[in-house]
Amino acid sequence: MGICLSAQIKAESPCYTGVNSKFASTEGNDLSSSNSKVSSISVAPSSRSEGEILQSTNVKSFSFADIKMATRNFRPDSVLGEGGFGSVFKGWIDEHSFTAAKPGMGMVIAVKRLNPESFQGHREWLAEVNYLGQLYHPHLVKLIGYCLEDEHRLLVYEFMPRGSLENHLFRRGSYFQPLSWNLRLKVALGAAKGLAFLHSAETKVIYRDFKTSNILLDSNYNAKLSDFGLAKDGPTGDKSHVSTRVMGTYGYAAPEYLATGHLTAKSDVYSFGVVLLEMLSGRRAVDKNRPSGEHNLVEWAKPCLASKRKIFRILDTRLEGQYSLDVAHKAANLAFRCLSTEGKFRPRMDDVVKELEQLQDSKEKGIAPRNPNSGPKPRRHSADDASNGNATLAYPRPSASPLYSK
Ligand SMILES: Nc1ncnc2c1ncn2[C@@H]1O[C@H](COP(=O)(O)OP(=O)(O)OP(=O)(O)O)[C@@H](O)[C@H]1O
Ligand SMILES: [Mg+2]
Repeated sequence: MGICLSAQIKAESPCYTGVNSKFASTEGNDLSSSNSKVSSISVAPSSRSEGEILQSTNVKSFSFADIKMATRNFRPDSVLGEGGFGSVFKGWIDEHSFTAAKPGMGMVIAVKRLNPESFQGHREWLAEVNYLGQLYHPHLVKLIGYCLEDEHRLLVYEFMPRGSLENHLFRRGSYFQPLSWNLRLKVALGAAKGLAFLHSAETKVIYRDFKTSNILLDSNYNAKLSDFGLAKDGPTGDKSHVSTRVMGTYGYAAPEYLATGHLTAKSDVYSFGVVLLEMLSGRRAVDKNRPSGEHNLVEWAKPCLASKRKIFRILDTRLEGQYSLDVAHKAANLAFRCLSTEGKFRPRMDDVVKELEQLQDSKEKGIAPRNPNSGPKPRRHSADDASNGNATLAYPRPSASPLYSK
């Protein structure tokens, strides 16, 4: 259902399959795999064959039968979510042998299964194995393995018990209580650290698909980035950008990238600004259910972001009493700068990390919220909690696709 609905805001494209509209290059760096570190030695994209990519990853190659058993034959009630690539299922494996385990035993996994009708999904699948199979960082989701067998393309990840930030911000229901101000800051900082790592000199990767559904949360609300199907190696040498077909999700893509296809790390910074604004306002980047003039969050909110007097007009009313004016103003100002029309005026992600850390510090130094215990009540998570979203989903979900400037 998520896919059909999200198609409503997808760009019309001759290449759009109606099932999986993402496109990703198989291009990648030859990345080494020390902890959180990667080699900066680039291998020309064309020199990396599929075989080389699969051989060089440090993840397990699963048989289809193994995954089928681990997910109890892809039981519908174990669906964690759905995206442009296909469905994501909950499963269990033995943590030592990595063979299927009984539900509740061993290690919990999330299995993404490529929709068999998808034509473009293979490239995206390979890009994901290429990047996540070699990049390690506390704020990137762990890829445990993959399955490539006949027409089957699957990805096996660590299970993220609290699902996506999108669910927490926008779904209504007993499980998804509004995220508190403090947790929003924590999630923003975690996601910023993940992006800063990707942009760092030794990694130099542009993520290209930064949005709330790709920010997953562990049991302590540590944010981890998932979905590297659109990721790209950043420019090398004295090049200022990489030229790409314009791909992404409406509402998140930077204006200059939309207009020219020129991709830089600053395109990700813009998307970060959009997500930060979604967190501050509790509104979706694009929401056609809102009154006209409020469909596009950035257009609607930007004029209020830089003004201490006006920011209350756009802050999520569910956060009232939880933040100090000073900290809220600084956070809004940070979002404002990330959303600068020109990339050169946007901060770098490592500066964003520093600013968010300072906001957390100032919060801890006694600019106390009125209600410090206002986080959501912890509750046991079950696959049903996450998968019931189809019933509670109130809005067509944004999904990545080819984008055309309007
Ligand atoms: N490792 C994981 N642990 C727990 N839930 C997950 C995991 N990976 C994905 N999910 C859930 O499955 C949903 C679908 O993920 P998926 O990446 O396929 O699509 P999407 O990000 O929603 O959209 P798009 O296809 O545009 O990226 C996520 O929003 C999340 O709720
Ligand atoms: Mg995703």
